[in-house]
Amino acid sequence: MLLSPPFKTSSGSSPFPRPWGLPIIGNLHQLGALPQASLSSLAAEHAAPLMLLRLGSVPTLVVSSADAARAVFRRGSNDRALSGRPALRAAATLSYGLRNVSFAPPGGEFWRAARRACLSELLGAPRVRAFRAVREDEATALVAAVADESRGDGSAVNLSDRLVAATSRIVRRVAFGDDDGEDNIQTKAILEETQRLLGAFFVADYMPWLGWLDTLRGLRRRLERNFHELDAFYEKVIDEHVHRRTTMSNNSKEEDLVDVLLRLHDDPAHRSTFGSRGAIKGILTDMFIAGTDTSSAAVEWTMTELVRNPDVLAKAQREVRGVVGDNRDAVLESDLPRLHYLKLVIRESLRLHPPAPLLVPRETTEPCTVHGHVVPAGTRVLVNAKAIGADPDAWGPDAARFVPERHDGGDLNDHKPWHDDTFRLVPFGLGRRSCPGVHFATAVVELLLANLLLCFDWRAPHGGEVDLEEENGLTVHRKNPLVLVAERRRGAASGLHEQLHERLQLKPSQRVKKAAASCMEPFLKPETTLAVEEELENVALRAPPPAALLQVPKCL
Ligand code: HEM
Repeated sequence: MLLSPPFKTSSGSSPFPRPWGLPIIGNLHQLGALPQASLSSLAAEHAAPLMLLRLGSVPTLVVSSADAARAVFRRGSNDRALSGRPALRAAATLSYGLRNVSFAPPGGEFWRAARRACLSELLGAPRVRAFRAVREDEATALVAAVADESRGDGSAVNLSDRLVAATSRIVRRVAFGDDDGEDNIQTKAILEETQRLLGAFFVADYMPWLGWLDTLRGLRRRLERNFHELDAFYEKVIDEHVHRRTTMSNNSKEEDLVDVLLRLHDDPAHRSTFGSRGAIKGILTDMFIAGTDTSSAAVEWTMTELVRNPDVLAKAQREVRGVVGDNRDAVLESDLPRLHYLKLVIRESLRLHPPAPLLVPRETTEPCTVHGHVVPAGTRVLVNAKAIGADPDAWGPDAARFVPERHDGGDLNDHKPWHDDTFRLVPFGLGRRSCPGVHFATAVVELLLANLLLCFDWRAPHGGEVDLEEENGLTVHRKNPLVLVAERRRGAASGLHEQLHERLQLKPSQRVKKAAASCMEPFLKPETTLAVEEELENVALRAPPPAALLQVPKCL
């Protein structure tokens, strides 16, 4: 039919199974409300871990098993050929004409330079460590908010809302230095609309000649409005930062991401990449869209599975409480390396519930070869991470069960790709377009979860069971909010009270230094201590207590 590239073997047949499609729309009608589930069913029905669909006029290769992922993304030239992204309508607009890391074409200098700068300046391990105080503050604020909402009388808590607020505040504080303490409702609404539009179905992305339907459906107008609102918001944030840079001394505040981007903007060595405001704004969209929702979804799904699996929950809680002991009411980041079982739990959760189940679409930039067959340039590639996580050939007959122990013995080092040579765990993607925010994400997810497990006992309300229904979007969340009963860990409430007061009374620099002193000393060589102290001082100066800490929970 209308497959533009000649996707054929020499005998004229298609090299990969091709479920039958309709004229014009091809296989689009077979994608239901949850495309990852529809694609899994289609792959199973046709016994086709690699299958070729036509979505509108777009030839699309769907990868649904670990073996297929290895065949497609094997080392060598394929990785380069598969590193393209389709220029989808909403992404192109909201990324300022594909000028950000997520959507930029890989061929030009921009994507490589922007990704390199993001890794070294924004998302690399030292920079992530530098924002530790923000994460610890927000984890404490989350615990306080949950305690407040549960009111000590077993009232159910909407954990989903709390998690979105916590991760969004973390990203806002790290990106914009936005620590006014109040959730800015207007900003939140703008960013939520951005997320919705990026996940929306634009006809133009599949049948360009019918793109006018998007105008009729009002989608184009919504997109333009959202772009203008987002742009005005970024302009204001950037102007404030420029003003502050000119009026304050360089050392008076730790750099947030906008400061870093402005520094690169002024640096002749980076001018070709960051020289325009559009590029700075595009990268801010990267951080927000890729960083907020994915992390909250990861914690939300992990808590869902923990409450559904009380034995696993109890084991994870025993570990956290054993490591932290009875004298502290907060997990610090320095505790995390000892929370081995928690890391297994998170892996298991991301296996069964990857927040981006179809990753971010790829497009071949040049022909490549899979199983000896040529995949033409311009083919869209969808990797079904959810199907790969449930692949019984890779995970065994109990692949559908939540068993964190199955990851024991594996390499839990976040510095290495999660998928290793087996390609069976791909929640952060694969190859050169894999997620550069993995350190940032794991730091947030581990800390929030560990604190929730330390401070509360969790169960579903009224002895019921928590469901697993999904709501489709750019990031897949629960369809129904996660509402749970959170009982304060016995004997810990007074400690929380004291801790909140102690934190409020200490100056920020003292707070960070105090936490750091208790946990970092054993790891520091004498010669690095001074540098680290200086860094901590800088971090501390930009870390006032979050507003949630100013309200002592009612239950206390
Ligand atoms: C649990 C949390 C997260 C998950 C599951 C996740 C997952 C992903 C996935 C699946 C991709 C596409 C990879 C591919 O195409 O192979 C991606 C890309 C990306 N992620 Fe994440 N992510 C998370 C958190 C973050 C955070 C916190 C940030 C930054 C603050 C971030 C920044 C990015 C960026 C910039 C890209 C685009 C990379 C490129 O195209 O070169 N992510 N992420």
